[in-house]
Amino acid sequence: MQESQTPLTRGAPTAPPGERNRLVITEQAPPFEDALAEAQRWLDNVYARMVEGPDEVLWQNMHSLHLGLLTLRRRWSPEVWRKFCKETAKKHPLRPFLHQCPFTRRAWERPRGYAGDAVLIDYLYMDRAADELHAGREIYRYMHQQPSSLSVRERRELLARTIDETAERVPEGARILSVACGHLREAETSRAVAEQRVGELIAFDQDPLSLAEISHHNPHGVVKPVCGSVRALLSGKTTFQDMDFVYSAGLYDYLSDAVATRLTGLLFGMLRSGGKMLVANFARYPPETGYMEAFMDWWLIYREEDDMRALLGEVPMEQLAGIRLYRDTQDNVIYLELTRR
Ligand SMILES: C[S@@+](CC[C@H](N)C(=O)[O-])C[C@H]1O[C@@H](n2cnc3c(N)ncnc32)[C@H](O)[C@@H]1O
Repeated sequence: MQESQTPLTRGAPTAPPGERNRLVITEQAPPFEDALAEAQRWLDNVYARMVEGPDEVLWQNMHSLHLGLLTLRRRWSPEVWRKFCKETAKKHPLRPFLHQCPFTRRAWERPRGYAGDAVLIDYLYMDRAADELHAGREIYRYMHQQPSSLSVRERRELLARTIDETAERVPEGARILSVACGHLREAETSRAVAEQRVGELIAFDQDPLSLAEISHHNPHGVVKPVCGSVRALLSGKTTFQDMDFVYSAGLYDYLSDAVATRLTGLLFGMLRSGGKMLVANFARYPPETGYMEAFMDWWLIYREEDDMRALLGEVPMEQLAGIRLYRDTQDNVIYLELTRR
């Protein structure tokens, strides 16, 4: 086990009340046990303030918690950070307090076997604060307004717009594939889908419950749910052809480089000439990362522009007409857009 590279002490006892939650970096590195004990005392302090304070100051405390966790995550070695998450944060009474927020709790409990299921993402697309009580409602409201949440809602709108553009580009009936579609909420804000100006929108996901929700919302439309896994795509057991637009959002953040590279090559191969592919991945490091890992047990694979370019390893360059890399307005999500010759 490596020692903590980041020495941490709490604000001095004489610090003004507002400053006492802040982590202060000192010159000398304590052994990691000391750093963890110090972090535990800092959590005690945050917890006391959250429990005792009125709901109005909960946002301030959530803000200090997010900043403090991000500081720890950046300064510590990955081993020490994991130890903090798996032991200190997991056992701390602050965790059940934060789990009054249904969004935080669902990621932790992972009823479908993984943290980022479609029901969880719906907590970001929709505002369900009115269903919750007191602290849980305020924590959820806070999470709903964070940059990553804005990015997820922006991603949905971008996908809906691109579906509409594809329908304009291919008026004779575009073929579109969404890989790991979740609840396919972008279809609900796409005009082309509502007006049935798309030939076929294949909604591909491993989760039959998510596909049932899609069928419920699109009983007679152009949307065609298909149950299947990335593994089936990789093995060639499931394949699609002649697609005008293939996209995947909220999947690559879970895939290793090797799997993501292989999948990118395969999806690109499903495009017809002139077709487009769009892949989204969270960039390093949204400000919520520390909170997500410590209190939601939600670990994503973050990528930068170079990492996204590296996913082109199995795309035949001679078939590539264009590559575009861009970020969302929050600087949080990177989009890789490929056009086939
Ligand atoms: C974070 S959700 C994203 C849903 C949707 N694309 C969106 O942007 O809201 C991730 C989805 O990926 C699906 N998924 C995860 N791993 C998968 C795999 N190996 N094969 C197929 N689907 C997978 C999950 O079932 C879930 O619906």
